[in-house]
Amino acid sequence: MSHETVFTVETSRIKFGPGATREVGYDMKALGASKVMVVTDPGLAESEPVSVTVGALESEGIEAVLYDQVRIEPTDTSYRHAIEFAQGGGFDGFVGIGGGSSIDTAKAANLYSTYPADFLAYVNAPIGQGRPVPGPLKPLIAVPTTAGTGSETTGVAIFDLEAMHAKTGIADGALRPALGIVDPDNTRSLPRMVTACSGLDVLCHALESLTALPYERRSAPENPGLRPAYQGANPTSHVWASEAIEIGGEYITRAMDDPDDTEARFQMILAATYAGIGFGNAGVTLPHGMSYPVAGMVRDYIPPDYPPDHPMIPHGMAVILNAPAAFRFMAPANPELHLYAAGLLGADVTGASPEEAGDVLAGAIIDLMRRTDMPNGLSAVGYGPDDVDQLVEGTLPQHRVTKLSPRPAGPDDLREMFLESLTLW
Ligand SMILES: [Fe+2]
Repeated sequence: MSHETVFTVETSRIKFGPGATREVGYDMKALGASKVMVVTDPGLAESEPVSVTVGALESEGIEAVLYDQVRIEPTDTSYRHAIEFAQGGGFDGFVGIGGGSSIDTAKAANLYSTYPADFLAYVNAPIGQGRPVPGPLKPLIAVPTTAGTGSETTGVAIFDLEAMHAKTGIADGALRPALGIVDPDNTRSLPRMVTACSGLDVLCHALESLTALPYERRSAPENPGLRPAYQGANPTSHVWASEAIEIGGEYITRAMDDPDDTEARFQMILAATYAGIGFGNAGVTLPHGMSYPVAGMVRDYIPPDYPPDHPMIPHGMAVILNAPAAFRFMAPANPELHLYAAGLLGADVTGASPEEAGDVLAGAIIDLMRRTDMPNGLSAVGYGPDDVDQLVEGTLPQHRVTKLSPRPAGPDDLREMFLESLTLW
């Protein structure tokens, strides 16, 4: 088996800045679309970012059809609903506007209306068949309204497969939006807890891609077409991730506490974009892999500032709850890099020994969780020791990310990490 020697740097084209949303009509026209499905969630249907988007499309003579039934934390059922709408609409372009849920749903609607197939055909193996997307998709413009997922830069769409109570996804470069319009004005109305969860997701994207298994330790693909979208840490992703950690750690609480802090909102959505470019190429690791069953198995937890109609553990919260234990476990693979990450987060790492790297980084993350009002561990969102076996089982199939852990994690390791994550301080 020979090792990988090549990495690629791929990202969406990005247009960044206050007011950029007003240019979505110009950009969609340049991409050649004349009838566009605008994909968003019910909470945003009447919002300013959506009305600006629809107005900008119409002013360029583009027919804009609003689809506002995206589920926050989407499921296969909610994806199918959007796909059916897309298949009946004769659209030649898509806009996903909202959090990662809306942008990911727009990717799925674009994919299955362009190349209809059995739903599991394109879903990541081993849960689905992992079939490559057959060709180019219709133009998709992503307009994030949270400073979080980085979905505008990636070829990944995540959802909850209800039958398995676990998150999985579709990952193919063809899903990547043609353009991401990143407009700090669109995050102005974000509630406090949504800002916190999306900001912590950003930090985990950056921390995980920074410390992921390096690309040259993966085995080489049999042909270039089989090189995974998530390639492992590489020199380019290192730069994007480092910047994102530093900016995110500095501005997250300011962005939470004062929606009118334009500098903090600008910096957080910039950090989200940087982290998205980094992890879109390098991938994420155990905190994300472990988050999927944590989110998928939710019983009755309803977080503050989120829609009260269904229990959910927001993505960023599900990720950060596992992060301290996961980084403690992974740190021995590369202690210097973990100490470097802790330093970027603002921790004092002078005199810290390599053996302390995991604890130092975990401590910096816990400090950040306390400052952002996160629950104190999995027990605070409804889980107990009896759930740990099922959480482990839900993590094991997440190969796309768990295999990028710099230190291989078996079922017993995962069990230990979940137990450690029940209570954090
Ligand atoms: Fe994430």
